[in-house]
Amino acid sequence: MGARFAGKVVLVTGGSSGIGRATARAFADEGATVVVAGRDEQRLASTVKEIGGSASAIVADVTDSADVARTVETVVARHGALDVAFNNAGILGEPAATGDLREDVFDAVIGTNLTGTWLCMKHEIAHMRAHGGGAIVNMASNIGSHGRIPGMAAYAASKAAVSVLTRTAARDHIAEGIRVNAVSPGPTDTGMSLRPGETDADRAERLKSALPLGRVGATAEVAAAVLWLASDEAGFTVGHDLVVDGGATA
Ligand SMILES: NC(=O)c1ccc[n+]([C@@H]2O[C@H](COP(=O)([O-])OP(=O)(O)OC[C@H]3O[C@@H](n4cnc5c(N)ncnc54)[C@H](OP(=O)(O)O)[C@@H]3O)[C@@H](O)[C@H]2O)c1
Repeated sequence: MGARFAGKVVLVTGGSSGIGRATARAFADEGATVVVAGRDEQRLASTVKEIGGSASAIVADVTDSADVARTVETVVARHGALDVAFNNAGILGEPAATGDLREDVFDAVIGTNLTGTWLCMKHEIAHMRAHGGGAIVNMASNIGSHGRIPGMAAYAASKAAVSVLTRTAARDHIAEGIRVNAVSPGPTDTGMSLRPGETDADRAERLKSALPLGRVGATAEVAAAVLWLASDEAGFTVGHDLVVDGGATA
């Protein structure tokens, strides 16, 4: 295992489960001091326990600007820096045809995935630009800019917007030493890629024919892409949206 993030302080939103948890663990395995944020205190605590070392948690809701500001302040107060942020928190929302989508579902999905990602960047950038820069990776999805799945209008629109937000932010802030990129996974092995009522075995069967690679992605495979984007190895990679989807949108 390498040590690409030795001495670095990394914030992972939505770090209490799934891809966020796996990525937080991967950063820690490569030497980072990791802080995970999310709304559920118990699940955050179990992530922190699993990672061990200097990992810690902050209970915060990314839809709330004051909460996000407090999160960045707390990370810096605890560890003296914020070098890397993975803005991963997101929700799927109940699938429905575009004309049948409930307004509260649409607002919640946009509020979490798009506004939440922007609020995170806003407060992270405020710190990073005053302290020599940093790296930000946003969580988009292959369903956004790259694919189309019926019943997913709010989610897809929110994630396509994250890809655009990423490119714009990258241009806006690279001169301040802040590299912004995004990752766009396809179906990854968390509860979010299970259709209503589907088991892991059902999903495996569905993906055999639905994906060129024929299987679900591992959370570690997404984590590997995030770590590369956040690392110095990707120093010339700016505003990129890295698709990690087993060929689904190839
Ligand atoms: N799994 C896939 O197939 C897939 C594919 C492409 C993209 N993605 C994206 O990957 C990200 C992680 O998803 P996952 O698959 O790992 O699912 P997950 O296990 O449900 O993770 C979602 C995370 O986001 C957090 N979260 C949700 N709303 C939040 C809010 N308002 N404030 C703070 N944290 C919040 C959740 O924690 P709390 O509930 O405790 O707040 C949880 O830690 C999401 O953005 C998702 O859209 C997933």
